Amino acid sequence: MASLKPTSILIFGATGHIGRYITDQILAAQPSFAHIAIFTSAGTVAGKPDHIAELQARGVKIITGDVTNELDIKSAYEGVDTVISAVGRNVIETQIELLRLAEESASVKWFFPSEYGTDIEYGPKSVDEKPHQLKLKVRRYIREHIKKLKYTYVVTGPYADMFFSLSPGALEAGGFDIKTKRAILIEDGEGKVGFTTMPDVGKAVVAALRHPEASFNKALKVQSFVVTPKQVLSEFEKQTDEQWTVSYSSLQALKVAEEKAWEEGNGNATSFTLRRIWAEGGTLYEKTDNEIIDLKDSDLETLEDAVQRALTTGWQGKIVRPQRL
Ligand SMILES: NC(=O)c1ccc[n+]([C@@H]2O[C@H](COP(=O)([O-])OP(=O)(O)OC[C@H]3O[C@@H](n4cnc5c(N)ncnc54)[C@H](OP(=O)(O)O)[C@@H]3O)[C@@H](O)[C@H]2O)c1
Repeated sequence: MASLKPTSILIFGATGHIGRYITDQILAAQPSFAHIAIFTSAGTVAGKPDHIAELQARGVKIITGDVTNELDIKSAYEGVDTVISAVGRNVIETQIELLRLAEESASVKWFFPSEYGTDIEYGPKSVDEKPHQLKLKVRRYIREHIKKLKYTYVVTGPYADMFFSLSPGALEAGGFDIKTKRAILIEDGEGKVGFTTMPDVGKAVVAALRHPEASFNKALKVQSFVVTPKQVLSEFEKQTDEQWTVSYSSLQALKVAEEKAWEEGNGNATSFTLRRIWAEGGTLYEKTDNEIIDLKDSDLETLEDAVQRALTTGWQGKIVRPQRL
């Protein structure tokens, strides 16, 4: 088992925010993986025709079905050895059934549940964080019911690309508004945060696929770089050649806004909690797992790269791979 070499990969959520970056890196990987398929909904096939056509042109097999339909999943799993899930937050729980069927399947050996974010078992307080509950439930299911299947959680911290934004409804959470060149920093802006850029999330998944023995049954903590919001601000000022308008929000103000958002069922509640966790140091490690999966600094993006992309295409633009890759 330790020698599993993924040859047939099935991806769920391949056209989503992070799924498209993961799929792009899996497709770009050299040596290439023999068979790559995505499982997607009829709605996505109809709604994102260009994206689906591009994937097909790159050799991806498109399987259309309903993620909650057992027969669709069983049929999609045939001959697949590795499943990568990048489903959205609203369908995290669906993965319990996907895992059960993978455990029963004759071919599936390895499963990557949809994580790619904040470390949900960072410390004793993590168990009570509201946005972590469904992912924790999936991990609990794996601990209690999965015997044969191997699993890997790719834990990346915040995507730098998405962190470079400022939501008008969540100003207490801080952020960066590229249009108006305005930044709101939490406390003094000197608290370090460990980031992964969206292309680097995809590279981390590929690195894990290349190193099964180091990745099996683990939460792999990967990062592109660790910087303070002040360093982010100064990189934006350097690249825009302009001084930005800066203000500060206290951690206490963020916590008050967070509590109110959850009480009111505000859509920004998750964002408040995650930005509070990041501001409290919930992304910092003595050592990451980059090295054990051979993810080298020279393969990863820098703050400079991430800011440059934010100022040009933005993360929602067409995926552009940095020159040196
Ligand atoms: N670290 C960070 O800063 C950060 C930021 C955002 C997200 N994340 C994490 O990344 C993971 C993926 O999130 P995302 O934002 O990339 O997801 P997303 O774009 O919202 O959704 C990904 C895919 O999930 C499937 N999906 C969504 N709703 C569905 C539904 N109701 N029924 C069936 N399928 C549905 C869709 O796949 P099809 O259309 O192909 O069927 C969709 O393309 C999550 O675990 C999330 O927590 C982390």
